[in-house]
Amino acid sequence: MKVLVTGASGNVGYHVVNQLLKLGEEVTAAGPDTQKIQKIFGNKVSIVELDFTKPETFDNALYEVDRIFLMRPPHLGSPDDIYPFIEKAKNFNIKLISFLSLMGIEKNTIPPHFKIEKFIEKSGIPYAHIRPGFFMQNLKGVHAIEIKEKDMIFIPAGNSKTSFIDAEDIGLAIATIMHNPLKHKNTAYTITGAQALDYYQIADILSNLTKRKITYAKPGLLKYRNYYIKKRGLNRSYVNVTVALYIMTRLGTAKGITNEFFKLTGKQPRTFEEFARNNIEAFSK
Ligand SMILES: NC(=O)c1ccc[n+]([C@@H]2O[C@H](COP(=O)([O-])OP(=O)(O)OC[C@H]3O[C@@H](n4cnc5c(N)ncnc54)[C@H](OP(=O)(O)O)[C@@H]3O)[C@@H](O)[C@H]2O)c1
Repeated sequence: MKVLVTGASGNVGYHVVNQLLKLGEEVTAAGPDTQKIQKIFGNKVSIVELDFTKPETFDNALYEVDRIFLMRPPHLGSPDDIYPFIEKAKNFNIKLISFLSLMGIEKNTIPPHFKIEKFIEKSGIPYAHIRPGFFMQNLKGVHAIEIKEKDMIFIPAGNSKTSFIDAEDIGLAIATIMHNPLKHKNTAYTITGAQALDYYQIADILSNLTKRKITYAKPGLLKYRNYYIKKRGLNRSYVNVTVALYIMTRLGTAKGITNEFFKLTGKQPRTFEEFARNNIEAFSK
């Protein structure tokens, strides 16, 4: 039987697929754009269309699958968007569903992940929630434009610290769990990097590596929201979820460090400096 990886073209899904393949698992890589997935993975995986807003795509995606990596696409701000797929998965003999949740979610009912976790638990499908800290990939993804073009980090995190983790490490932790579903039945893991940094420290690391002066702009929440919605044209629902997350971050919720990644994989998580060095082109002009 195969492992279904949703969001296979995304930050985490991509690494979940690769790590599962290394463990010798058969993978169904799923997402709304099968051509995109084909370009990324070629013939190494089975490829299916899966769109959480199109229930007609669910049966095919779940065919011959006994484990599921489930992620919530960032623009789907309501948990209701994900429920029909989980509901459908109940009809299949699923040994484990591993949902990409959020660090601290057990004490924070506002982000959609809280309700999605509860919905999965009530579904009766064995689960292993993955609650990672902020991804290092945010810096090279959504926030790279300001770094490249304006030498500026434009994130409303105040002076708070964040225990960033590399999506590749998250992928490894998830694949490890999926490979041994009985051991991880009905569990939740908070996985973080090994150090908590503020964005001044992130700016210093990027300045050293790029040999440019990169500064942390420390915008207010409203300024950030207006900029990303009006100037950058990003999805309103996505930006609103991130505003809620940065409110929590400012309260210190993103700085905790756990050793759960080490306990799962026997490896130390990558540092931000290593990540930035390996991805230097993302920050270069
Ligand atoms: N960023 C962080 O710091 C952080 C920290 C903790 C948790 N998280 C959570 O992680 C999740 C995001 O993971 P990610 O960064 O790996 O995602 P991502 O890179 O933004 O990728 C999104 C994936 O979802 C697919 N997708 C888009 N619309 C879809 C639909 N209607 N139905 C099914 N799939 C769809 C996309 O396919 P296409 O490529 O074809 O569009 C893509 O594969 C979010 O729930 C976020 O809250 C993020």
